[in-house]
Amino acid sequence: MKLFDVFPLFDINIVEGKGCYVYDDKGNEYLDLYGGHAVISVGHTHPYYVEKLTGQLNKLGFYSNSVINKLQQEVAQKLGEQCGYPDYFLFLINSGAEANENAIKLASFHNGRKKVMAFRKAFHGRTSATVAATDTPAYLAPVNINPNYVFAPFNDIEFVKKELATKEYSSVLIEGIQGVAGIQIPDDSFMKQLREVCTQTGTILILDEIQSGYGRSGKFFAHQYAGIEADIITVAKGIGNGFPMAGVLINPMFKAVYGQLGTTFGGNHLACAAAIAVLDIMKDEKLIDNAYNVGEYLMQELRKFPQIKDVRGRGLMIGMEFDEPVKEKRSRLLFEEKVFTGATGTHVFRLLPPLCLTIAQADVFLERFKKIL
Ligand SMILES: Cc1ncc(COP(=O)(O)O)c(C=O)c1O
Repeated sequence: MKLFDVFPLFDINIVEGKGCYVYDDKGNEYLDLYGGHAVISVGHTHPYYVEKLTGQLNKLGFYSNSVINKLQQEVAQKLGEQCGYPDYFLFLINSGAEANENAIKLASFHNGRKKVMAFRKAFHGRTSATVAATDTPAYLAPVNINPNYVFAPFNDIEFVKKELATKEYSSVLIEGIQGVAGIQIPDDSFMKQLREVCTQTGTILILDEIQSGYGRSGKFFAHQYAGIEADIITVAKGIGNGFPMAGVLINPMFKAVYGQLGTTFGGNHLACAAAIAVLDIMKDEKLIDNAYNVGEYLMQELRKFPQIKDVRGRGLMIGMEFDEPVKEKRSRLLFEEKVFTGATGTHVFRLLPPLCLTIAQADVFLERFKKIL
């Protein structure tokens, strides 16, 4: 059997990782400024993470969600404390799309409405409700085309107000910082007004913090820069540092109803061990502060390069926009300078390193980046 060819691949076989570095099967060392697409939060093979996971695996890898799982309660308690939503409920699943799918459903169960508002260039996942909320027509199979989904222009509060006034919308789904769109930050004033209009119209505000959350922006959640609270928040990627896991954080106003939501693998023992290790390390090593400080430093230094048209971001979620396509530069950076980065569209580099990136490692990146400009 061969693999279904859904994605163009670099001809590199990564076999090991440590901190902010990964290694291929030929022994080459790469600086990881991409974190496997914003997934690696506490660094590759962190010793405490490895110890927690192997220790759990030696005890119990999985049992079903029909019995008490104290590890889930530990994740909920630690996450609630660290993220600033201690009174919210937690529902654990396996991937970002699944988190958003459940969030959209929960909102609709709650207020009985059908319409969903998302924003232009949004990416929310590949499952049916989430791909309908993703503004890339090429990702939609005919079966996913759904007239209940409306895309608002980003930061356009007048459009949002007019639509939500119809009281037909169940939820508004917005990324804390748009990632796939090329690191687009919603205005704080827009977010504040969005919060208000959702409350006034009985629309559920869902914050997709799958890429921008879990400390990446220099706050636990990117929307916390605007000083607002969401009704539902979705998390994935960094939550398990590579172990597939996701969560839906739910305002206490929602009632849990048996049968509405469910999962086989979600919140299994091994996944919870990973999530607990991540939260412990983030707290002990103050990784959110580190993301903020190293991110500020990187952006300040990158803004000194005249070749870059725009540098934008928060913490360690950084976009660098060029006047010309970046494909060749990105490829040279990878193959000649041994640095992994991301790209979005044709003109934007995306930096999403592990949150433990040091200033010294940021300097190594800047040196190598300079060489390919
Ligand atoms: C903002 C956002 N939402 C949702 C998703 C989907 O997550 P997953 O690939 O885990 O389903 C992604 C993945 O890139 C994302 O960046």
